[in-house]
Amino acid sequence: MAPLKLHVLFCFSCCLTLVHPFNWQDPSAFDFRPSVWFHKLKEVMSAASSCHSKIPKGNGSYPVGCTDLMLGYTNKSIFLRLYYPAQSQGQDRFDTVWIPNKEYFFGLSKFLGTPSIVGNILDFLYGSMKTPASWNAPLRTGEKYPLIVFSHGLGAFRSLYSAIGVGLASYGFIVAAVEHRDESASATYYFEDQAAAKLENRSWLYIKKLKLEDAKIIRKEQVQQRAKECSQALSAILDIDHGNPKENILGSDFDVKQLKGTIDRNKIAVVGHSFGGATVIQSLSEDQRFKCGVALDPWMFPVSEEDLPSRIPQPLFFVNSAQFESKDDVIKMKKFYQPDKERKMITIRGSVHQNFADFTFVTSKLIGIKLTLKGEIDSRVAIDLTNKASLAFLQKHLGLHKDFDQWDSLVEGNNENLIPGSPYDVVTQSPALQHSPGSHDQN
Ligand SMILES: *[C@@H]1O[C@H](CO)[C@@H](O)[C@H](O)[C@H]1NC(C)=O
Ligand SMILES: *[C@@H]1O[C@H](CO)[C@@H](O)[C@H](O)[C@H]1NC(C)=O
Ligand SMILES: *[C@@H]1O[C@H](CO)[C@@H](O)[C@H](O)[C@H]1NC(C)=O
Repeated sequence: MAPLKLHVLFCFSCCLTLVHPFNWQDPSAFDFRPSVWFHKLKEVMSAASSCHSKIPKGNGSYPVGCTDLMLGYTNKSIFLRLYYPAQSQGQDRFDTVWIPNKEYFFGLSKFLGTPSIVGNILDFLYGSMKTPASWNAPLRTGEKYPLIVFSHGLGAFRSLYSAIGVGLASYGFIVAAVEHRDESASATYYFEDQAAAKLENRSWLYIKKLKLEDAKIIRKEQVQQRAKECSQALSAILDIDHGNPKENILGSDFDVKQLKGTIDRNKIAVVGHSFGGATVIQSLSEDQRFKCGVALDPWMFPVSEEDLPSRIPQPLFFVNSAQFESKDDVIKMKKFYQPDKERKMITIRGSVHQNFADFTFVTSKLIGIKLTLKGEIDSRVAIDLTNKASLAFLQKHLGLHKDFDQWDSLVEGNNENLIPGSPYDVVTQSPALQHSPGSHDQN
């Protein structure tokens, strides 16, 4: 997420210019009546929000609900955001707070290496933003749903991929977006014990910056912890499905007992972006309950290439941006192409690494492109292709009886906005497609 650094600075200066009316030429700048300040503040807020396009709502036919589950205490507890098909309540309430605690903004600011004031500014700009799902809405009953465990990227956390989570849930999936406790999330929290939970005394765990020489070992340890956390989240949800309700220590209005008997237990997949894409590969090798995986622009650095490629019998789909993966990364991915194993790869033309995460939707086009949060491709088109190609792949390999096979051609890269395989597969490669060397810490 390194480009975000620029983004923050941009927001910072954008914010300063918005505040600029408080200058020497503006007599009302000296007017400290609350009503005047309120008015100024509202001006700034609306200017800030008008330059934000919204996170798109799901295109499927199911209304989408959202809740957070924390199961257990300490840093070993399971923490995830659940997107699920909800009962229609007539009018959909889109009242799920996107980034629910200010500490996440401080974590982002720490991740970006910016002063902590930037955390306050981000909180100010985005702290009240909503994502298009109904918070704690009752689960829609009468059907068993396939399950997706989702793993976030470096410096992200459970709520930053809601366009994908909401998108897939709107097509009838339950999506469990885990928050990793391996110190790769910008921020996360847990409760030390029951007393702490009662007092809402959160213990915050922020991202740990690594020295380059430590990265090789620690990133591999992290990816193993991440895969373990995906498996633990899966076990916990299957337990709940079995009718062993665990207490959600967040004490929300969403009754976890509703999940009893709602999971289609043989139809489980793992999906993730970047570091989460590496986690997908690791998880498939360790946990055969995951029947297939979708790795979105996976960060190949922590992926072990000695033994892993021969240890993944399940189908695996690489959905890449046009800009992130180097030729060596693609060569590493191709090692997973083994005889009789189902492997697919597509590249989204004009897309960038951040096209998979929600930040691509919350800036204006100009700022987004400048800061590589957006590519040349419309962010909505890119996420639409990502979701539809994933749905087609999931239908085929989970054995779903839906109509997602209408998008089978996307899995083959047959679309004007897609390249089958990678840009490096094209023999007559234009210089424009060359990889811009990124640091290994991009996520
Ligand atoms: C989690 O807690 C254990 C026990 O308190 C501690 O040893 C470990 O370092 C903690 N892990 C992280 C990532 O904070
Ligand atoms: C909150 O938790 C921390 C760490 O567990 C503890 O040191 C502190 O005393 C707690 N604060 C309150 C108000 O209980
Ligand atoms: C929903 O579908 C429309 C029409 O196909 C498309 O333009 C739009 O980008 C889609 N939105 C999402 C979030 O996928």
